[in-house]
Amino acid sequence: MNRASSWLDKRRTRIKSWSDGVERKMLAAQWRSTTVDLFSFALEPLWDKQHFPARVEAIEHGDDATHLWLRPAQRWAWPQAGQFVSLLLQHDGQTLSRCYSFSSLDVKADRVRLTVCKVSDGLFSQQLIPRLRVGNLLHISAAAGDFVLPQNQAPLFLCAAGSGITPMLPLAESALAEGRAVQLLAVQRGQQPLLWSEWRALQQRYPNLLRCELWNTNQQGRPTALDLEKRLQTLSPSVEVFVCGNHGYREVVEKACWAQQLPAAQLHMESFYQLVTAPQLAPETQVVAKVKLNDGRQIPVQQGQTILQAAKAAGVTMQHCCGQGVCRSCETRKVSGVVENIQTGLKQLRDGEWILPCISAPVGNVELAI
Ligand code: FES
Repeated sequence: MNRASSWLDKRRTRIKSWSDGVERKMLAAQWRSTTVDLFSFALEPLWDKQHFPARVEAIEHGDDATHLWLRPAQRWAWPQAGQFVSLLLQHDGQTLSRCYSFSSLDVKADRVRLTVCKVSDGLFSQQLIPRLRVGNLLHISAAAGDFVLPQNQAPLFLCAAGSGITPMLPLAESALAEGRAVQLLAVQRGQQPLLWSEWRALQQRYPNLLRCELWNTNQQGRPTALDLEKRLQTLSPSVEVFVCGNHGYREVVEKACWAQQLPAAQLHMESFYQLVTAPQLAPETQVVAKVKLNDGRQIPVQQGQTILQAAKAAGVTMQHCCGQGVCRSCETRKVSGVVENIQTGLKQLRDGEWILPCISAPVGNVELAI
């Protein structure tokens, strides 16, 4: 590196840290003036690389869901259609994390929309949404997920069940804008799918490219693999299939794709994300390992717990989303020690490796760079 470019790099670093500082102060001021107790997260995680403040710009209450329009901080990287974020919030002394797909990406207005379905026993939808106000700041993660459009011009077959239709809308919008043909199969119990009026508007805008089919399980029962196969047979062999829904529905679509010998790379699946809860362990269950963090805290891990579950049980916040080794939002560098992947049984032995704490159980003491 020559002297001029090293001088320039130093200047850039200084300017960046100065502007980060200004942004930090401005956001802290906003934070103090707008945050309500309910969302009074610890400030510190706000400034790490994985969490960003996002102001609630509008709240639209519908029959089945509430739509939140958020304006994230400037340094938040703009997402791709089909991705999701996790929201972190404190409730009753606990840190909760919940993943939501974007139901709209409004680039011009610099804001994104998350659609929160009403779930009868859902803490976020039932308890917290009614108390959320325009102007509140929420904690959001960087956008994540590889449920995104492949770089080609192939047509899309979007298979959605229930609220699985949420990420399909931005995917369809992006694909249609590129001139790609899109077929939607929306499986729904009874009433209309979420955001249906927006799908209809899209259909009017792209009458030759978009085809929407509603499947009402109350009248038609659940679709079978054969039903899906029949639809696949009418589509191009290069079709990219996207499926988002419950486990049973994903299996049916997968089976149909296999039967049609669709290459695995053309099948894109998204699962519904679950909160990670610590398993009910007897109090006397043996502590088998300790996980040490950067700040010196040590998390006791009992037999049968993953690192993430142990952290939750110990009241330690750890970034995560799916809890199933899918989204990689919990990915963390292991400084030392050995962990075992509980899904594959494989051990990660090397220091400095990246691990997924949601599916990793420690084998002896472990140190993490968190
Ligand atoms: S929380 Fe999704 S991979 Fe760990």
